[in-house]
Amino acid sequence: MSQGAGIERLIKPGLVNFKGYSARESAEALEGELTVPVEGVIKLDANENPYGCSPKVNRALSAYPELNIYPDAAQTEIKELLAGYTGVGAERIVAGSGSGDLIDLLLRLLVEPGDEVIACVPAFSMFRFSTRMYGGRLVEVPRNQDFSVTVSAVKQAVSQKTKLILLDNPNNPSGNMTPQPKILEIADTGLPLLVDEAYVEFAGETVLPLISRYQNLMVLRTFSKWAGLAGLRVGYGIFPPEIADYLMTIKLPYNVNVAAIVAVRESLSDIDYLMANVRAIVAERERLLTELKKLEFLTPYPSRANFILCSVRDGRAAELHQRLKQRGIMVRYFDTPLLANSIRISVGKPEHTDALIRALRDIEEEMNG
Ligand SMILES: Cc1ncc(COP(=O)(O)O)c(C=O)c1O
Repeated sequence: MSQGAGIERLIKPGLVNFKGYSARESAEALEGELTVPVEGVIKLDANENPYGCSPKVNRALSAYPELNIYPDAAQTEIKELLAGYTGVGAERIVAGSGSGDLIDLLLRLLVEPGDEVIACVPAFSMFRFSTRMYGGRLVEVPRNQDFSVTVSAVKQAVSQKTKLILLDNPNNPSGNMTPQPKILEIADTGLPLLVDEAYVEFAGETVLPLISRYQNLMVLRTFSKWAGLAGLRVGYGIFPPEIADYLMTIKLPYNVNVAAIVAVRESLSDIDYLMANVRAIVAERERLLTELKKLEFLTPYPSRANFILCSVRDGRAAELHQRLKQRGIMVRYFDTPLLANSIRISVGKPEHTDALIRALRDIEEEMNG
């Protein structure tokens, strides 16, 4: 294959100028830009769990004897474990390499070039990534100023080409919930509706009990957040059994690795420990919100997830993001037409909140001075 000019001729036209998923910067990649050693970086940019995973996971993985053997492509054990955790039949469950894998898989199944997918934006950016990847168009229904969803606007966005409606609940990056009656009104359109509940353990509210009443309702979950397994990549979806069958047919054979299966088994045997961490994060979220509200240059939004979105007064979010980064505190920065001049802060441990608030107070003084 010749290199350089002309290579685009070989690439699918829809992907030539594709920008990809904008993943957060790793602490390692920032070395040199920081005034603190990489080990001292406080990562509040990717909604990870500051308490890590269950110690049972670490123990079981270090003793796992069969890394040379492929995992079970049929996902038999993990489906049974997840059926026990969620209370739904194993025939409805499909596991993936993170829940992002399942978003991608569902869109691979449903979306052909020219099809439309509706999302209430700002929303999780993978929705746009995978829709585009399969040649579809993401139809963006803007949320209101308080990030609530207007159901009539969603209905108006529906066309002959609509294949799927996507809804994060709680929403990333705003952290708010869409109340169940609104979700049901959207489900009443009869179109496939995927409710992404990546943060459900922090919110304590789910549409899962409704899946037997709504054949078009699908629910997405992950072990990345509540169980502290973002690095291992394991998530799952709950689908109508026929859709689950198709997804099992088109997935890559070994999309859930053996370490992930062990980690799910051990996490589910240590739910009390993990949920105590979730409760600590929820309590810390409320303290963080109270502290952020005291800062003049920030407007934080209440959240039901493990992060808090803040808009930054006077258009200075980029500068704030940079100044925090220099001090070794990483937060997520947004400046898009839908989400201008904002940062999203993941909830850390109490000492992370303390360090963040100290830094924000200093920066506030510097920026005013
Ligand atoms: C709303 C939402 N869905 C899905 C994911 C993907 O999580 P994972 O692929 O780690 O399971 C995220 C990650 O931040 C998210 O915010």
